[in-house]
Amino acid sequence: MSESSVTLSFWEDDVAVLSIDLPGKGANVLSTAVLDELAGHLDALEKRTDLAGLVVRSGKPGTFLAGADLREFVASLGAAKDTIVAMCRRGQTLFQRLARCPFVTVAAIDGVCLGGGAELALWCDRRVMSNGPKEQFGLPEVKLGLFPGWGGTARLPRIAGLGNAVEMITGGESIAPDAARALGLADDVTTAEKLDAAALAVVRDEQQTRKYLEDRRRWSEPIAMSETELAFLGATASGFIQQQTKGNYPAPLAALEVLLEGAAVDAEAACEVEAAGMAELFGSPVNAALLNVFFLADRNKKDTGVAADVLPREVKQVGVIGAGVMGSGIAAAFVRRELYTTITDAAAEALARSTKMVLEEVSYNKLTKATDVARTLKFAPLLNATTSDEELAAADVIIEAVVENASVKRQVFARIEGKMREDAILASNTSTIPIAKLAEQLKRPEQFCGIHFFNPVRKMPLVEVIRGPKTSDATVATAVALAKRIGKSPIVVNDGPGFLVNRLLTPYMNEAVELLLDGAKIEHIEKAAKSFGMPMGPLTLYDVVGLDTATNAGLVMHEAFPDRIVATSVLPTLIKAGRLGQKSLAGFFRYKHATARGEHDDEFDRLIAPLVREPKKLSRDDLSNRLFLPMVLEATRVLEENIVRDVRDVDLGLIYGVGFPPFKGGLLFWADTLGAAKIVEMLTPYSSLGERMKPTAMLLDMAKSGKRFYDR
Ligand code: NAI
Repeated sequence: MSESSVTLSFWEDDVAVLSIDLPGKGANVLSTAVLDELAGHLDALEKRTDLAGLVVRSGKPGTFLAGADLREFVASLGAAKDTIVAMCRRGQTLFQRLARCPFVTVAAIDGVCLGGGAELALWCDRRVMSNGPKEQFGLPEVKLGLFPGWGGTARLPRIAGLGNAVEMITGGESIAPDAARALGLADDVTTAEKLDAAALAVVRDEQQTRKYLEDRRRWSEPIAMSETELAFLGATASGFIQQQTKGNYPAPLAALEVLLEGAAVDAEAACEVEAAGMAELFGSPVNAALLNVFFLADRNKKDTGVAADVLPREVKQVGVIGAGVMGSGIAAAFVRRELYTTITDAAAEALARSTKMVLEEVSYNKLTKATDVARTLKFAPLLNATTSDEELAAADVIIEAVVENASVKRQVFARIEGKMREDAILASNTSTIPIAKLAEQLKRPEQFCGIHFFNPVRKMPLVEVIRGPKTSDATVATAVALAKRIGKSPIVVNDGPGFLVNRLLTPYMNEAVELLLDGAKIEHIEKAAKSFGMPMGPLTLYDVVGLDTATNAGLVMHEAFPDRIVATSVLPTLIKAGRLGQKSLAGFFRYKHATARGEHDDEFDRLIAPLVREPKKLSRDDLSNRLFLPMVLEATRVLEENIVRDVRDVDLGLIYGVGFPPFKGGLLFWADTLGAAKIVEMLTPYSSLGERMKPTAMLLDMAKSGKRFYDR
């Protein structure tokens, strides 16, 4: 017999309590089974006339309800529209009963209260919240390509006001307890320990005043707003949403329409509007893609990078060698998570610059958008900047981030290894040099791996943990745990040129330059990538990376894969003309200042003109196909060579590492929506371009068998 998830108890004879606590789960989610249990309890409770109130609470400290069970959503992706409407109506009808009981209903919210959980709480007459650090209340459905479908769009605007509801639902961001109180969403905010008492106090208070009955009546009616007010809100909100989503994410705009339409009718009719709207969004390609991204992230959170029985070593202190752009970013990430960090550099002035950068970064207060002296005082003692290697002796993990030069890195390792603790781990932040090569002369290669951060470290969530041929499981586990501890999403990859992300990015960037040489206009190439959903075009990306750095990385890839990565004369020509990208205010584009938007530059046209081959006729599809299909082909090679442990790491790596569009679900998720046979067909017109556009054996096999990447 399965244990129950919702249990009924009584705090006092006339105060019933439903505690939600899914057995064996870390968080509470609303599955069909949980909703059924809730319905069963309400069947019995609603009949009772002797109750003063019902409190709904969680048996799990720190999580009220994390939302609906998304695995059930995925299972229903192909469901017919009337099934979706019925799914919504069922949830709505159940939650509405909380606003119709013959007594007051109160949600006692401790911790995370999101999505369907927030809707359940909204349909209670009253809400009390704890003010712990984990407390968050929100309706993040738009982030999954949906909007609230269990009455959230009908109920929230009636309690918090339409404008506030539009902001919360179309933005999908959570709010803190104090903000919830200001919006009338929380009737009391207190500590977790006092939460039950606060809920009971609300029951007793409402028993006396019976104010909740007045609110029940008010919240069931249309929202009092004139047509002009509605039209104004609609126009400003839709303008803002269109600017944010660039037409790639349909849910926020659809949510806005439902909210506006639902405002003009009573709550019951608003629920019908919501259900009908949901039927249009649920199961859409963007919804399916965003659900995939959710599961990619969820899987990554649980992945230790190794078999379950391998434990990470404890890390108390860390070291960083090389106080440049990356070393400073890495040190700041450690200090911010309160790890004692020693940073060294051969140049004292580099250390001075770095110390300033690290302290500025960790002292920044997001709320006040300014430097916070209290933070400086807290974090400064955790940073030790020194030119002495001896001070790295106590570190449990040392990350090297000196210049990208194998012999310099090897000299550093030879100097450091003898000074390190015997059990300490050494790692390199190299972006291109094989880990095997760097490990060759190490005494303890099993305690060596790559820990590759992305630039800027503060912003980019991805870290590649690169396993060399001799790297031990314990080293990998420790690197993964350390990356997670500083808030990053690590994926474990095997050694190879460009590891995972740069390897997949290279064919794409390479092809952008080839397109230029085939006569495509620079703006058209950039537009093709951006219309696909990339955050910036490939040629702008060159300018951001720096053409000198890109050339070095490109050479490594060209040497490894000369059949498909072309050694182009474009980059050397630009570099020779002093155009190194954004940092020199000119590259493929011209820049008014280092952070300005790139502008078309006639000098670039003059430089490139002699290199352009006989112009080809290139359609928009040609541009997009030639940019993105080589990435898919490279991914098949990466899978063939077992560079990654799972196809999902390819997708997460590109989304977190280079901003591959989440609304496409990931490179291989997107490829699966096309199907291998279709991709082979799409590649056919480009066969004259040679190996780089030729379907691989894996793709041809998949085309024949109908297998998908996600089936692997
Ligand atoms: P950088 O040039 O800003 O910093 C390198 C630092 O290392 C300098 O401060 C230099 O004084 C110091 N250094 C040089 N030789 C040294 C030695 N023998 N002993 C101690 N310190 C020494 O370089 P950046 O951009 O921070 O790159 C560092 C590493 O990170 C490279 O391996 C690079 O490939 C990798 N990387 C760079 C990314 C980027 O976008 N810049 C992204 C990911 C990885």
